[in-house]
Amino acid sequence: MIQTAAISLDEIRHLDRHDPLAAFRAEFELPADTVYLDGNSLGAMPKAATEIARRTLEQEWSQGVVRSWNEAGWYELPRRLGTKIAGLIGAEAGEVAMTDSTGINLFKLLAAALSLRTDRRVIVMEGSNFPTDNYTAQGLIQLLGNRHSIRFVEADGIADAIADDVAVVCLTHVHYKFGHVHDMAKITERAHAFGALTVWDLCHSAGALPVELNRCRADFAVGCTYKYLNGGPGAPAYLFVAGRHHGQATQPLTGWWSHEDPFAFERDYRPASGIDQMLSGTQPVLSMAVAEAGIDIAAHAAIREVREKSSRMGDLFLALVEESCAAHDFQIACPRDARLRGSQVSLRHPNAYSIMRALIDRGVIGDFRAPDVLRFGLTPLYLRYEDVWRAVNALLEVMDSGVWRQPEYTERLAVT
Ligand SMILES: Cc1ncc(COP(=O)(O)O)c(C=O)c1O
Repeated sequence: MIQTAAISLDEIRHLDRHDPLAAFRAEFELPADTVYLDGNSLGAMPKAATEIARRTLEQEWSQGVVRSWNEAGWYELPRRLGTKIAGLIGAEAGEVAMTDSTGINLFKLLAAALSLRTDRRVIVMEGSNFPTDNYTAQGLIQLLGNRHSIRFVEADGIADAIADDVAVVCLTHVHYKFGHVHDMAKITERAHAFGALTVWDLCHSAGALPVELNRCRADFAVGCTYKYLNGGPGAPAYLFVAGRHHGQATQPLTGWWSHEDPFAFERDYRPASGIDQMLSGTQPVLSMAVAEAGIDIAAHAAIREVREKSSRMGDLFLALVEESCAAHDFQIACPRDARLRGSQVSLRHPNAYSIMRALIDRGVIGDFRAPDVLRFGLTPLYLRYEDVWRAVNALLEVMDSGVWRQPEYTERLAVT
């Protein structure tokens, strides 16, 4: 049991009783007897998702069949949900579409951005970024004939890496593993001062903390909906193109949904105006329809309250770990200053994998990121401060008992 002078369980329960976001928890289905700290990988399921899925299957598909493209608004989903997402990321309606996956959207937007800077050859990226971003840029560079290169940097070297040979600065706003937050306004300003454009990956930002794309003058952005927006496993992603680039920046996956007049079925491509040019083709309607449940919940939550609670939960988590697990070799791998940290905490330990497996077996679900990081996502809409207490308590028990040493916990599962 945690022994701490910092805060008592009674005080923690007091925080929960006075939590302005407490009512949101009832909007989610949560697994029984579980502390779910992996909403930064896959968000919990909104209860409303079941009804949407039933309606989409039993009425719209079953009875409406092909008519539902019009009558149930399937065709409009990318734009309609894009408008809702725009409200969560500081963008205008018409600047965001929900479509495809994060990686595919990144490919499209990087290509679009490079097409606006044909005299430049460098993309600045953080080397430790989520790999898909780096791999996607590398694939695009190869396709473009290896004339571009990536200037990989550490988080603290970004400003120095931006020079007048840079076409695009492509960064993840909140780092997936270590949780540090980049200063979007400052980096974008510097990129623009050198004539470069910015592409932001918002996977770990939207729904977790305030994002102000237009206030920061961001050029392009992508993000997923299956983490803090609780859109469901593999839910489609979204993309943002600042209005000033519409009609100038064009993406190369020029499928029929990105044509000026898709149902004219013309032989030759003509780009759609506006955000539609960033679409490609037919969208996964079932996933997209279901994702609206989570997007709507996020739209009703005050993001400043969400941020405030996740910062306090992170501070509490770290304080409890530091005080009660001091004997167990953990290193804090995320910023201690909540203003610089996204909605997660990360710890390093040489036996991180086995420890996380043992924790999951005890109902505390976080995840592992190679080679040695335990990640705990903090999702204020369905977590209580007491869950943080329970999680650190379980961690302490796993460590004190040495149960993580059991051989079955070293066996790697396909998804960690
Ligand atoms: C920062 C970041 N970018 C991209 C992705 C993955 O994108 P996709 O949904 O295309 O696999 C992830 C997945 O966790 C991520 O954390």
